[in-house]
Amino acid sequence: MDSVDIRSRWLDFFESKNSLKLSHTVVPSASLIASDPNLLLVNAGMVPFKPFFLGEVKPPYQRATSVQKCVRTLDIDEVGKTTRHASFFQMCGNFSFGDYFKEGAIALAWELLTKSISDGGYGFSEDKLWVTVYEDDDEAANIWQKQVGVPKNRIQRRGMADNFWSMGVPGPCGPCSEIYFDRGSAYGKEGGPIADEDRYLEIWNLVFMQNIRGDGGDKNSFPIVGELPAKNIDTGLGLERTAALLQGVENIYEIDTTKMVLDKASALTKVKYGKDEKSDVALRVVADHARTAMMLIGDGVTPGNEGRGYVLRRMMRRTIRNMRLLGSQDLVIGELIKSSIKAMGPQYPDLISGSERILAIAQAEEETFTQTLKSGTSIFDLAATQLKSEKSKSLSADTAFKLHDTYGFPFDLTLEMAREQGLGVDEVGFRKLMNEQRDRAKADAKAKKSGHTDLTEYRAIVDKSGTSKFVGYENISAEATITGVLVDGKSVAEANIGAEIEITLDRTPFYAEGGGQLADGGKIQLSNGAVIQVEDVQSPLPGLIVHRGSVVSGVVKSGAPVVADIDLERRLAISRAHTATHMVHKAFREALGETATQAGSENAPGRFRFDFPSTSAVPISVLNDVESRVNELLIADLQVHAQVMSQDAAKAMGAIALFGEKYGDQVRVVSVGDWAKELCGGTHVARSGQLGLVKLLSESSIGAGVRRVEALVGHDAYQYLAREHVLLNSLTEIIKGARADELPQRISELVEKMKSMEKELSAVRSAKALAATSQIANKAKKVRDINLIVEQLESEIAVDDMRSIAINLREKVKSGVVVLSTINSGKPLLVAAVSPEAIKLGIKAGDLIKIGSATLGGGGGGKDDFAQGGGVDVLAISKALTEITKLIEGKVN
Ligand code: ALA
Repeated sequence: MDSVDIRSRWLDFFESKNSLKLSHTVVPSASLIASDPNLLLVNAGMVPFKPFFLGEVKPPYQRATSVQKCVRTLDIDEVGKTTRHASFFQMCGNFSFGDYFKEGAIALAWELLTKSISDGGYGFSEDKLWVTVYEDDDEAANIWQKQVGVPKNRIQRRGMADNFWSMGVPGPCGPCSEIYFDRGSAYGKEGGPIADEDRYLEIWNLVFMQNIRGDGGDKNSFPIVGELPAKNIDTGLGLERTAALLQGVENIYEIDTTKMVLDKASALTKVKYGKDEKSDVALRVVADHARTAMMLIGDGVTPGNEGRGYVLRRMMRRTIRNMRLLGSQDLVIGELIKSSIKAMGPQYPDLISGSERILAIAQAEEETFTQTLKSGTSIFDLAATQLKSEKSKSLSADTAFKLHDTYGFPFDLTLEMAREQGLGVDEVGFRKLMNEQRDRAKADAKAKKSGHTDLTEYRAIVDKSGTSKFVGYENISAEATITGVLVDGKSVAEANIGAEIEITLDRTPFYAEGGGQLADGGKIQLSNGAVIQVEDVQSPLPGLIVHRGSVVSGVVKSGAPVVADIDLERRLAISRAHTATHMVHKAFREALGETATQAGSENAPGRFRFDFPSTSAVPISVLNDVESRVNELLIADLQVHAQVMSQDAAKAMGAIALFGEKYGDQVRVVSVGDWAKELCGGTHVARSGQLGLVKLLSESSIGAGVRRVEALVGHDAYQYLAREHVLLNSLTEIIKGARADELPQRISELVEKMKSMEKELSAVRSAKALAATSQIANKAKKVRDINLIVEQLESEIAVDDMRSIAINLREKVKSGVVVLSTINSGKPLLVAAVSPEAIKLGIKAGDLIKIGSATLGGGGGGKDDFAQGGGVDVLAISKALTEITKLIEGKVN
């Protein structure tokens, strides 16, 4: 049974075909990008339903079913080595929100698993199935034994670590019951799941979701902080594991969808699957990771150094690294991604239509990584040479960390390369530096917008007083009532002047940061004279708007009536930027095609930035065209309007939806004339003419395959151009008599002239130095039979001239060594010339320069009789010359 079939049987069964006649609403898989402050990526089928379980949002249905894309990276090191760990998988789920509970969930699961294939089931034989229940869950054990008829000896009880499910972070949780399939004695020992989880493969987990988990603890024991508003069901059947069993293959890497990628990896590397365990593991890792990377990019993740971007980067780097271990030196990502799309496309058609974009981003990352490998390798080599010369045996934690942090060099690669050179690495020190960095990052993230990740207090406000109604599309001021006041994340009854507070209202004109649009600023005033200056506005829970700021006068009391006023100027300037972003987005898509889909944006007062995938720099001509197209449409003064409609209607009118954004059933479409139409919750101007002027400033790369355009709008754009104009005027004044349009010509003539004058000057200096060689030759110092000249010359002598001076001197002093330095364009330069007699003593020009350049913070080398090099640190010149002298003296004596 192929994966597509397993999926459709699942959805059919829960939609209507079960004997209990419990029809479930089919919900499409949400994006892998979780809209949950506690989670990076969706890691279970229930994640999109979390607000329903918690009672934050009223579910639009009582029963639902889905096949959800999931990514888990906790067990990444197990991937490929076991039969059942995958970083990407699909979780088939059925959910009840206060509807059926244990009895219904167990009956449905059993029916679907054991019903014959011809009847639409999965056809598992009853006597191969085992179940587990939470240690004191007699109710579930009874249902399995009495109602379903599972023999008592195939029902096992387990503790919290195995049979009490949570997301590992604060949120809904509950006892669970798992269903296992016995693969037979060839796969391990008897004794049920508690004895061997490879032989007894877990396929389905039924969670009786009824509690709320708090922060802290570990999987063996964690705090339960409360009961959910209703008893719910959350289940998850692993599609890939089920496929492995129904397709009769040994492990999840050999099922239909993964095997396609594995075969591609095998064809590319010419390594046969099944040859030996080591290469099999590498092939499985490649198959797993390439597919995960493709799915992540498909959902709008781009490679980066933190968060989701880092998960993706890690997947891709491990893929490339394993391909190298398998012997491939070529660019491989393109082919692997293509076969992953082919494997998953039938289930996710968006992957096929987005294949160009996915490929572009993946290939750009591969190129960056190849570059990283190159530069990292030369830094590693330098460090290794130095270590050897110092007779040291271990690479310092600092170097390993720098390689990792600055150059993105994978640590396992550093370890491996060190091993090849007979060196060790200070692993403990490295881990310590990594932890320190992680703590810094965490503290940063906490201090930033995310605010308090413990949402309990916010939830309590919603429970008591409901969410906040956003009235800011139509109003800039509103009368409202305070529903909550928080200080340091805790609810308080009142707050005094000077306090930094968070405050929620039943209705508010303040826009919470979201969709790339920055938050409104403004004031909230109480009738008792208290005033809150609002600095930031966030929405930590769906529908709840939290204002952050300080009390600048009076006492703020929870429950009091207020007047909330936004800073109109700031709002207008932000709205202009937001409308401009939509227009620039649309114009880029016209110019570059669908790949120029927004991958991120920021709309700030008077300026905006817009990121989109592209493997190469955008030509100036395109930027000019985009800018001119947008400005033309400003003059056309198009009407900007917003309409709420169904997702289908929005799609039909050609509105652009962004990757990774979560939209409800009803969406808001913002249109600029009939031209740019986009799903958007932000605020906008009324007519395009209000933008005044849009000026694109720069275009640059912000990481693999993503370009960023920065731009100004309105008065800021005008001021920028006005400043440029003043600058131009002052240039025409400096370049006497030039008209503005003659400036480029005149300035390039001047630059040319200066260059040739510098050349002349340097020739004069060299001639002078050459003329002085006899004087320098007189300074030669005798060390045994060797004449030694170590001299710092005047600055700005060209390298070629240094060379002739050094060789000239070497001839003058006969048997000897000449080392000269100068400073050229602010950088130290070194040359060394060594006579044959001195070479015989083991003095080699190349060695002298290596030592000297390293001291100067650079590199260099050459032959035994002549070598040159340099660095960056001019202050280290005399130290470098001393080191060289020492080396020579050591050889002579
Ligand atoms: N949410 C449950 C799991 O992930 C079904 O196993």
